[in-house]
Amino acid sequence: MVRIENMRKTYQIGDQEIHALRGVNLNIEEGDFVAIMGSSGSGKSTMMNMIGGLDKPSSGEFYLDGYPISMAHGDERAIIRNRKIGFVFQNVNLLPRTSAVENVELPLLYAGISAKERRKKAVRALEGVGLGEHLNNKPNELSGGQQQRVSIARALVNNPVILLADEPTGALDTKTSIEIMSIFQQLNDAGKTVILVTHEPDIAEYAKRIVRFRDGEVISNEVVSQRRMAKLEEEVIS
Ligand SMILES: Nc1ncnc2c1ncn2[C@@H]1O[C@H](COP(=O)(O)OP(=O)(O)OP(=O)(O)O)[C@@H](O)[C@H]1O
Ligand SMILES: [Mg+2]
Repeated sequence: MVRIENMRKTYQIGDQEIHALRGVNLNIEEGDFVAIMGSSGSGKSTMMNMIGGLDKPSSGEFYLDGYPISMAHGDERAIIRNRKIGFVFQNVNLLPRTSAVENVELPLLYAGISAKERRKKAVRALEGVGLGEHLNNKPNELSGGQQQRVSIARALVNNPVILLADEPTGALDTKTSIEIMSIFQQLNDAGKTVILVTHEPDIAEYAKRIVRFRDGEVISNEVVSQRRMAKLEEEVIS
């Protein structure tokens, strides 16, 4: 689904070079659920933005669903992004004076789908995240968790092959975070590939695999169930 080979990203600020990614190799299979962890500034968001086609790597190869994104031009990247990627951010970025259903319709507008079809798909996506009763509420009439659910519905309305979420629960309380994580869990159970950035170990536990970043490099990549087994063994031994 995602294949990343020796990806580098260097930012230039004045005459200073910042190496945000220093040669990342990563494979993510269809149906996987990956949590990306690592300290602040380790390159997690940079990596997500590359996968999401929001930015271009300085070098390296990158394939999404078999398509070589690293070769694509800006316009091409925008089209791929709209068709294949759903992106959820920590701050939800909903249009303020616009109802939930209209916010969710937005990506479909760019995809050139008819008004009737747009409404049908947007309503279905909102029902899917439990917001069927709040279609016409504006963002300020919804709780933080409900707003995040609207942004998940917006990310899913095009039926992307992959869902990217950069600290989607970062601004939410524990109870609401659990609600949001169970939505990701259900989506993954239904076969959607999910990549999520988080600082919280409890949130990462929902994933099947944890990839850790340090200073722009992947330092570990482990299956969560194996990790749980190791933890259990540790407890038995001690
Ligand atoms: N647009 C940019 N211009 C210049 N430097 C940038 C830019 N975006 C990120 N960086 C730098 O790249 C490095 C990696 O940043 P990144 O945002 O990927 O970190 P992160 O792991 O997501 O951190 P956090 O956990 O705080 O969100 C940092 O040193 C950051 O300052
Ligand atoms: Mg970040």
